[in-house]
Amino acid sequence: MAQFTLAHLSDPHLAPLPRPRLLELAGKRALGYLNWTRNRHKYQRREVLDTLVADIQAQAPDHIAVTGDLVNLALEAEFAPALAWLESVGGPTDVTAIPGNHDAYVRATRHRHHEVWAGYLAGDEGAATFPAVRRRGPVTLISLSTAVPTLPLMATGTLGAAQLAALERVLERLAAEDNFRILLVHHPLSSDARHKRLTDSAGLLALLKRHGVELILHGHDHVHSTVWFEGPDREIPAIGVPSASALAHGRYPAAAYNLFAIEKDNNGWRCEQTVRSLDSGLQVRQIKRARLM
Ligand SMILES: [Fe+2]
Repeated sequence: MAQFTLAHLSDPHLAPLPRPRLLELAGKRALGYLNWTRNRHKYQRREVLDTLVADIQAQAPDHIAVTGDLVNLALEAEFAPALAWLESVGGPTDVTAIPGNHDAYVRATRHRHHEVWAGYLAGDEGAATFPAVRRRGPVTLISLSTAVPTLPLMATGTLGAAQLAALERVLERLAAEDNFRILLVHHPLSSDARHKRLTDSAGLLALLKRHGVELILHGHDHVHSTVWFEGPDREIPAIGVPSASALAHGRYPAAAYNLFAIEKDNNGWRCEQTVRSLDSGLQVRQIKRARLM
């Protein structure tokens, strides 16, 4: 079987932020706007994102996954530019997106990502409901949504009982197939930070322990991370990436993405991770290679 390569990037937090209308700045967005104008615009850079995406395209992966936080304050004026950005990355057959907490930042526009980016979120059956399942070569992508509006200063995510129950049915159905299952989820499955954790991760971890997947990809924390979780017969790697538009700042590394080369041999699945990151000269280069299985 030929090798399949998947590129994973996350949290592009697309700049520039459109100027909000006064009415849009009530509540949670007011703090978010201050944070953007004072800090975030300095290190979430469009030219960084464009450099990273050009490098991804030069690698010619078979598929590209974007695990949320395409926008910043979920202003109405952010959704169409985010769709245009997705289209510049690739078509909806070749690119899968899921939402993050910033894409459902406030109640007023919590449904808009769903409407405007539907082609990129939808499963093969066509509906943009979660979990969404897409089959690409030997890979099955299982997309989740943890994106819910939260109170100011909170960045938690929640799957909800209905989505978890639906995920269990999906995993039961997929058990009969010999596919490499990849779970896409914005929030990491474990977190020390209460204000930005996945509130029902215990339910998800229990499900994964029963049914398993081969790989979990997430964003949200804007750092490189590899954590292993218990599966039915072996541990499951969960990989996080930095923001795809970030300049290095504080404890946050520069923008990076991961390439996963997936292949089946006589001993089962092989998966090799390659990390490519922006260096101080704003060039993208490989910084790590690791055999995950
Ligand atoms: Fe983010």
